[in-house]
Order: sequence, then C-alpha cells, then structure tokens
Amino acid sequence: MFAEEKHFVFDGCDTVELADTFGTPLYVVSETAIRERCCEIKRDFLDKYPGTRAVYASKAFLTLTMARIIASEGLGLDVVSGGEIYTAYKAGFPMEKTIFHGNNKTQEELVLAMQTGVGRIVVDSESELELVEKTARTIDVRPALLFRIAPGVDAETHQYIATGHSTSKFGFSLNDSSLEQLVRRVMDSDHMVLKGFHFHVGSQLQSNRSHLLAVDVLVHWMGALSRNIGFVTEELNIGGGFGVPQQPDEGRKPLAYFTDSIMTRIREESEKEGISLPSVLIEPGRWVVSEAGITLYRVGSIKEIPGAMTYVGIDGGMTDNPRPELYGAQYWGVLANKMGEPAVKQVTVVGKCCESGDVLMRDVMVPDSIRRGDVLAVFNTGAYTFSMASNYNRLPRPAVVLVHEGEAHAIVKRQSYDDLLRGEEIPEHLRS
Ligand code: LLP
Repeated sequence: MFAEEKHFVFDGCDTVELADTFGTPLYVVSETAIRERCCEIKRDFLDKYPGTRAVYASKAFLTLTMARIIASEGLGLDVVSGGEIYTAYKAGFPMEKTIFHGNNKTQEELVLAMQTGVGRIVVDSESELELVEKTARTIDVRPALLFRIAPGVDAETHQYIATGHSTSKFGFSLNDSSLEQLVRRVMDSDHMVLKGFHFHVGSQLQSNRSHLLAVDVLVHWMGALSRNIGFVTEELNIGGGFGVPQQPDEGRKPLAYFTDSIMTRIREESEKEGISLPSVLIEPGRWVVSEAGITLYRVGSIKEIPGAMTYVGIDGGMTDNPRPELYGAQYWGVLANKMGEPAVKQVTVVGKCCESGDVLMRDVMVPDSIRRGDVLAVFNTGAYTFSMASNYNRLPRPAVVLVHEGEAHAIVKRQSYDDLLRGEEIPEHLRS
C-alpha cells in the first residue's frame, strides 16, 4: 500500500499524483476492493447457501460505472427512487435484478419501475399497495411484490439509521390486524404477485443481534400465515446493515460473521414452524463500498490556538461528507505525501463551510511538518458520501475517480460553477 517514495498508494495509484491530476477534493474508489467484496459475497454466502441472492444497496454509492461493476459481478441492485431506477436503466443494468424500496413511492416512480421491468417492488404500506395495484392495472402488468415488515426490534446504531422498531416510518407493523387480509388481497389479485417479505433493521450494525431477533419474529409470522391462509413465503429479504470499522484498529468483519448465524437461524425457525426454507436475500450497501473509497483533500490554512488546539482547514468538508455531523461518524487518515513521517501532532480537521460543526476529524495525529499544500487522504469514505453530498455554500461537488491496478479513470466530473447555476432562471421583471 505504501510506495517507496513515501506517497500513499491506493489500488496501484499514487494518490498525490491523483490529487495533482484530478484536483481536490476527490473521491477515489477502488474497483479491485469492490470486486473483492463481491467475490466474498459469492463465496461465503451465495455459493455456501443455495437459493440465496444478493443485491447491492445502491444508495450507498451509485454512478453508471458502479452499476456496471455490480452487473458484471452478477449481483442485483436495491433502488429507492426514480433517480436510482433511471441510473440503473441507463447503465444497462438487468432490471429484473433490481428491488424497488421506499416508504412513499410516487405514481410516476411506480410507472417507471413497472415499465423498466424492476424485479421486485417492496410495498411499504396499505395506501401504497392500493397505488401499486391501480398502477399495475392501468398499464396492464403484474409486478412481483414483497411486503416490508417492521419487526419491532431495536438496532444498536445511531437512531437516524435504526429502522426495525414497530413505530418506524418504514413497513407494516405486525401489530396491524389487517395485514393478513392484505396478504390475501394480493393472493387474490390478477395484477400483483406476492413473493414474500422484507425487513431492514438498521445500518452500520456491529453485530447481527437485531437480524436474529427479526428472523424469529418474521419466520414465526410466516408460519402463522401458512397455517391461517395457506400463504407460502417464497422469499425472505433480510436487508443490509452489515457494519464497517470506524477506527483503524477495529478490524474488518467478514460477511460470514453476520450471515452464517442468520442462515442457521432461518433454517431452524423454518423447521420449527413446519414451512419450507424461503429463498434468502441480502442487501449490503456500506459493507461493499465503504472501505473501497477514500477522499483526498488539500490542506489549506492551519490555525494554532496556543495552549488549546490546532485546526487544519481542508478544501472540502460537510458538503462532500456530511456523516460526522449527521451521525457522529468517525474517520481517520494520513498525509498522503508524507507517509514516511511519524504522526506526532494532534489536530482537528475542519471543512470550509460556514458552520462550527463542520468538523471532519477531531483530535487526529498528523506529522509535525503538516503545511498548506499537503494532501490528506481520509479512509473508508466510499459509502454515503458522494451519494449524500450537497452544494451548501455553493461548493461544487468533487469528481469521482475509479482506480484499478494502477489505472485511474474519472467516472464523475467535478462540478463547475456553471453546473451550480444550471436550471436557474431570473424572472423577467428582475432581468434589467
Ligand atoms: N436495504 C434497505 C431497505 C435500506 O434501507 C438500506 C439502507 C440498505 C439495504 C443498506 O444498508 P447498509 O448495508 O448500507 O447499511 N445515510 C446513512 C445510512 C442510511 C441507510 C439507509 N438504508 C449513513 O450514512 O450512515
């Protein structure tokens, strides 16, 4: 990983050269790392457990190129908006392998999903079911559905990314006595097919405790449905949420750490309930792409507050990575052009937005010689950064570069100031 010239090298590319060539801030994504994760999914989940499927949760990071990498690995894609569907479609993604989520899909999005042949629509509420049926009838298609269930379990994660509790905005509550009727209704419908159920308990989980609890609840309910109305659950989609390290010494958790005991539990519970084993799907997002991405920044002003602290200002911040502010996320990094120097100086790295809260990394160690022009590489930024970036303070969005064994390709252009003005109009009376 570290070249002799003491520059940080990422997937065969000198990151200081990348910063010089493509400018900063810069998202750098390793194709090799993404493909390694996909291989691990295949080896330790798909091949190990026949009948399973995996879809990548594209909300973590999606571009046309990413869709093509995922397609070439044979995985499916979780999409959650018209924009994500459109991106997948334009990338030539096999649409039958996409799964459409969301707590409030619009009719236009449903039409797009049905016309492009999305593989599964995950229905989130009774009112949405009505809209799905009406839309399917109008355009005369018969979409395959899953119902999203809020299993009523708490996930050990930040409350903003916990989604399995019974009062969550996502999914049907199992306390809802009309749910069985709704299953019946789809069974009787000529315009919809119900394949099974979905849950997603939360994101950035460090254990599978809440997945296991959710499996118990769901499979028990699937057993009851089978006995009560003869519904056979073909598919159980257990969502994503598999976490990644937040500290350099935390260590990476292999997929099997999460999925092996979940698969055992699904088998055991299904046997107990006397139902046949459903086809199990997973939807990892962060686990696939987080560690495959780094962000490069150029160091600018350095402000020493005697006896207190040192601020290091970088040329990006909460606009390209809002996660520290939103979820208290922690990151770590290195000075890419000073790899040989010991990190002995404690600094706080801040972004350039007009907000005191725009702190990317608090109390991190860097070489004593840090100065304007150095390149800071921040690790583990592949997930939910580019996809959550904003233009706050009218900062243009960074470019994205795909690196692969020493080759670098710009896959998203840096926004220009003109891009920021695109779509704006001045009303006639204010023009002169
Ligand atoms: N499936 C569903 C239905 C989801 O809602 C999500 C994430 C995933 C799969 C993938 O979860 P993952 O494997 O990436 O944890 N912006 C937040 C994360 C929000 C996650 C939303 N749903 C963050 O930056 O931490």
